[in-house]
Amino acid sequence: MASALPASIDETAARLLALDYVAERALATTAFLALKLERPLFLEGEPGTGKTEIAKALAAMLGRPLVRLQCHEGLDLAGAAYEWNYARQMLEIRLAEATGADRERLAAELFGERFLIRRALLQALDPPDGLPPVLLIDELDRADEPFEAFLLEVLSDFQITIPEYGTVRATAPPVVVLTSNRTREIHDAVKRRCLYHWVGFPDAERERAILARRVPGAPEALSRGIVDFVQALRAIELYKLPGIAETIEWTRALMALDAVELDPATVDDTLGVLLKYQDDIARVQGAEVARLLQELRQAAAPR
Ligand SMILES: Nc1ncnc2c1ncn2[C@@H]1O[C@H](COP(=O)(O)OP(=O)(O)OP(=O)(O)O)[C@@H](O)[C@H]1O
Ligand SMILES: [Mg+2]
Repeated sequence: MASALPASIDETAARLLALDYVAERALATTAFLALKLERPLFLEGEPGTGKTEIAKALAAMLGRPLVRLQCHEGLDLAGAAYEWNYARQMLEIRLAEATGADRERLAAELFGERFLIRRALLQALDPPDGLPPVLLIDELDRADEPFEAFLLEVLSDFQITIPEYGTVRATAPPVVVLTSNRTREIHDAVKRRCLYHWVGFPDAERERAILARRVPGAPEALSRGIVDFVQALRAIELYKLPGIAETIEWTRALMALDAVELDPATVDDTLGVLLKYQDDIARVQGAEVARLLQELRQAAAPR
């Protein structure tokens, strides 16, 4: 059953937290406003920092279904919004020819409900149960630029015009979340229709809170060490910095190895959970890991 929209920023943050999503204040504010003003939420940011996850959390929080459109190169109208079922149309024409059915009537029916294949965008605007879902348009930067032009109608008017069929307009707008990893800039026209938030890496306090939620059994000292190490790693110039997803994975990995604290050998051997480029691993493995751990130990030591 659908739940009411949150009445305040605090309530937004609290309800997300109850679902183990630890939102920073600015994100809770933007999400609250997006819901209240019925505007799409545009999230851009570092990989593995909770962009996709918040759409799932919002759907759970509002008791709405999640409709997900995963963008990719070559994504077009047929993949994103609707498609005519040509095979079925052909079959119907053949049948009609064989049985001598009324041509006029058939022609009128061929572009009707029965032959329309609904993809994510159309499903979100015209949901089967009438309950407006959360529509996640994920990784928009992976789609080709012309696709964005098509999204404009959906984002500003919550409608899609199908030439042979008519305009499908949402009776109640879906909650829309768009994400981008910024491998390219998204067009201003899209951004202008949305509320924008940059999702950066969390500070140590929030990252610890996320770990406490996502890996509840992790020993306190280990979590603290992990977060401090990952935070220090993000200050190094690497090709690809570890996101929250990697911090969580690493914690699980270290727990699976029964580690109680970070030591150079264990860190070196498990770097592949945190870093996914050989150049990055080669850069920190050994001396750099030892240096970072030493520094963190000194910083943590009572003065
Ligand atoms: N604020 C948060 N609170 C709780 N968990 C989080 C938060 N941010 C990220 N996570 C955890 O990190 C994982 C990765 O997040 P998510 O998949 O949303 O990242 P993303 O930003 O979409 O990354 P990508 O750009 O690679 O798709 C989630 O499954 C979730 O467990
Ligand atoms: Mg994602």
